[in-house]
Amino acid sequence: MLLQAQLLTIFEDIAQHFDPHIFDPDWYIDEFYPRSIGDENLQLIKSNIQIGQIIRERSVARKINSLCDLGGGGTLWAEMIYGIHVDTICYTDYLEKNRKIVADYIRNPHNPYWDLYIEKVIETETSNHTSSRTVYDHALEIKNKITIEHCDVFSENPLGVERKFDIVMANFVMESVTSDYNKWIKLMANAESLVSDSGFFVVAAIEKAKGYNSNNSQTLQPAVYITTDDILGVLNKLKYDVFYTKLIPAQKNHSDQYENLVVVAGQKK
Ligand SMILES: C[S@@+](CC[C@H](N)C(=O)[O-])C[C@H]1O[C@@H](n2cnc3c(N)ncnc32)[C@H](O)[C@@H]1O
Repeated sequence: MLLQAQLLTIFEDIAQHFDPHIFDPDWYIDEFYPRSIGDENLQLIKSNIQIGQIIRERSVARKINSLCDLGGGGTLWAEMIYGIHVDTICYTDYLEKNRKIVADYIRNPHNPYWDLYIEKVIETETSNHTSSRTVYDHALEIKNKITIEHCDVFSENPLGVERKFDIVMANFVMESVTSDYNKWIKLMANAESLVSDSGFFVVAAIEKAKGYNSNNSQTLQPAVYITTDDILGVLNKLKYDVFYTKLIPAQKNHSDQYENLVVVAGQKK
């Protein structure tokens, strides 16, 4: 028993956690959400549009009002997909520099990266009928719904106070802030605790990763090695009815960091 406890402590010491100092949000956005939408991001958009549609189909009896984006990282790609279908968006991140990027966007919602995502979302969602919605209308609507908060997924109470949301999304967060598998399971539970009764948990993760770049040096942020089955196992234990799973192969320029992206969505039973 003692040996087991000692081993656990040793693993804790070895495990690496997210390094705030080397996360450069401008570099990260330019690298992972470049101004021309590549394969990974096209699939991410399509997957999340489908998930949004299924969520609405599963929620005919009640309105889906609130969305929480955990560890948004200064990116707004997911808000551009889900934002027009909810009333409130709680945008969160651990780092002030990431939250500031979103605060700046709220003051001036013109952004070459997210305008591109809005165009793609409008184009995909309205492929069978014409929409009079413009990129500008869309951006304005989203920015008016956003509030910005600090979060820490290492805390059992990631927002510091007890809150519940109809949809909680965590894109590339829990597996991207630790290399410790047991800690990752705990972080999944912490994030999930924000989901309301019968609410939805949408998780995107890097699969079979050894880490990922977050600035223009060679130093990688840690990532825990997980597979789709690991995520499904945790969601099953947390009592989710998983209704969507999609594996997206890594683009060539990212395949040295991870093998796939995986998008999973479930509804709390
Ligand atoms: C790989 S980025 C993902 C960013 C974004 N969600 C996306 O879709 O690309 C990881 C994010 O986790 C955030 N993060 C780091 N430590 C965290 C913590 N303890 N709690 C919540 N978020 C954290 C980082 O600031 C960063 O924004």
